[in-house]
Amino acid sequence: MISMHQTRDGERRVLQPFTMVIFGASGDLTERKLIPALYHLTAGGHLPVEFSVIGVARRKWDDAYMRAKMREAVAKALGPEGIDERVWDDFARRLYYVPGDATDPSTFSRLDQAIADIAASTSPEVGRNRLYYLATLPSLYPKLIEGLGELEAARSDRGWGRIIVEKPFGHDLESAIQLNRLLARYFDESQVYRIDHYLGKETVQNIFVFRFANGIFEPIWNRNYIDNVQITVSETLGVGHRGAYYEEAGALRDMVQNHLLQLLALVAMEPPASFTADAVRNEKVKVLGSIPLPDVEAVTKNSVRGQYTAGVVGGEPVPGYLQEANVSPDSTTETYVALRLGIDNWRWAGVPFFIQTGKRMATRCSRITIYFKRAPHLPFQRFAVPDLKPNSLVLNIQPEQGVTLSIGAKVPGPQVRIRNVDMTFEYESTFKERSPDAYEHLLLEAIAGDATMYTRADEVEAAWKIVTAIRNAWDEGAVPLHPYPAGSMGPEAKRWLLGRGRVWNGG
Ligand SMILES: NC(=O)c1ccc[n+]([C@@H]2O[C@H](COP(=O)([O-])OP(=O)(O)OC[C@H]3O[C@@H](n4cnc5c(N)ncnc54)[C@H](OP(=O)(O)O)[C@@H]3O)[C@@H](O)[C@H]2O)c1
Repeated sequence: MISMHQTRDGERRVLQPFTMVIFGASGDLTERKLIPALYHLTAGGHLPVEFSVIGVARRKWDDAYMRAKMREAVAKALGPEGIDERVWDDFARRLYYVPGDATDPSTFSRLDQAIADIAASTSPEVGRNRLYYLATLPSLYPKLIEGLGELEAARSDRGWGRIIVEKPFGHDLESAIQLNRLLARYFDESQVYRIDHYLGKETVQNIFVFRFANGIFEPIWNRNYIDNVQITVSETLGVGHRGAYYEEAGALRDMVQNHLLQLLALVAMEPPASFTADAVRNEKVKVLGSIPLPDVEAVTKNSVRGQYTAGVVGGEPVPGYLQEANVSPDSTTETYVALRLGIDNWRWAGVPFFIQTGKRMATRCSRITIYFKRAPHLPFQRFAVPDLKPNSLVLNIQPEQGVTLSIGAKVPGPQVRIRNVDMTFEYESTFKERSPDAYEHLLLEAIAGDATMYTRADEVEAAWKIVTAIRNAWDEGAVPLHPYPAGSMGPEAKRWLLGRGRVWNGG
């Protein structure tokens, strides 16, 4: 049986047999996301008849142990649904493990040999087509890129070779440029897949469809009708065991550089001529490039930073950021950030984009709200419309998934009284189909060679330019760090950012 994959612009591609190599096979991402995604793709019959998955990490596992550990991981991810033994047997026989240190050159030759052995016992194409996934410490990326780049260059039986690079992609503009240069030394840009798992989410992909498959929204999607746009990504979790990483990153680098600016780009980009990787990414780069780089004065006026103190989340007392493991007791790392950004182009001139993200907030929520301008004139008595709010369109990404349009409607009764009501579409109640996890979408697309939902080198650099300008201004000490209790929606100071008469979409 031949496996086919339909790309976003409708092209049907035959999926060729391949090997996927996961660096960081014993890590959290592999266990929670990558292996369950591959299991689901196998169950759905989306993968070619022949493929193999090789895990690499330092610990001394073997194939049998890898299979046992990954079975535990899949069972945990599936929960009560339980493993389908027939699917598992089909999947497990394709799992292999090669112990090795990323900093040891012999790891790459042993990996190459392992792929050759597997190809010899399955199909030559399993050896020819290769997807390398960097699911390990970012400090190891340079060694892995060099090792894999040399391996690729030395191959005589080359089919395709692709490399998926996890976030964080650098920690500032300069390091991102260096990483891009290193990748470019060994790989063509078409082989490089920089992953931002937000782009694999069903609801994020729906932003495209919503904007560009409907005739009614695009004509009003501009400065003439939109007052402001708000993007909130709030988490209830703290930094957990990632204190050391987070100390270096903070909310701005960890969330804004990638997820929030990607959401902003999808909302604000011009319609691409086609749904192909370059057409879509050209438009995203253009819009990111239209955000003016703020100087210190602009950052002072247009950003708020916060850090959580001890509080209560979901009824449980939780420690403050400074009490977390591997966090310096006098750390000034922000766990919350709110920004007011502008986009200097014809569509968006004068429309503020407000974005906020934080940890240990009251609710877990990812939401984009488009606030429209008020009707220019209301032919009603003032008492009829005391609470009438402007129209808004909410794109809910998680945990609720769907779209809500808020409109004014007449309250039944003899008098004219108007209040807002919601027209809502919910994924869960509308569609019977299972929503695949983001990693399922993105892995399948990388296997099919469709990079539309992966970020390009210039796109990552455009996002880092904005974030680095803000970061540099903060380093000059111009913006105070506001404490906020865990379980709140961030520091009070965020409210003045919006200006009069506006409220944050996430509370
Ligand atoms: N976890 C998530 O949900 C998540 C989400 C988004 C992005 N990411 C990104 O994904 C990457 C992996 O994250 P993670 O949470 O899975 O990390 P992790 O749990 O700390 O796992 C790290 C993996 O790397 C291996 N490793 C460490 N040093 C090595 C070396 N010198 N040579 C070879 N292997 C080595 C470890 O195994 P050994 O100790 O056996 O070598 C382990 O398998 C990071 O870039 C992270 O930012 C993770």
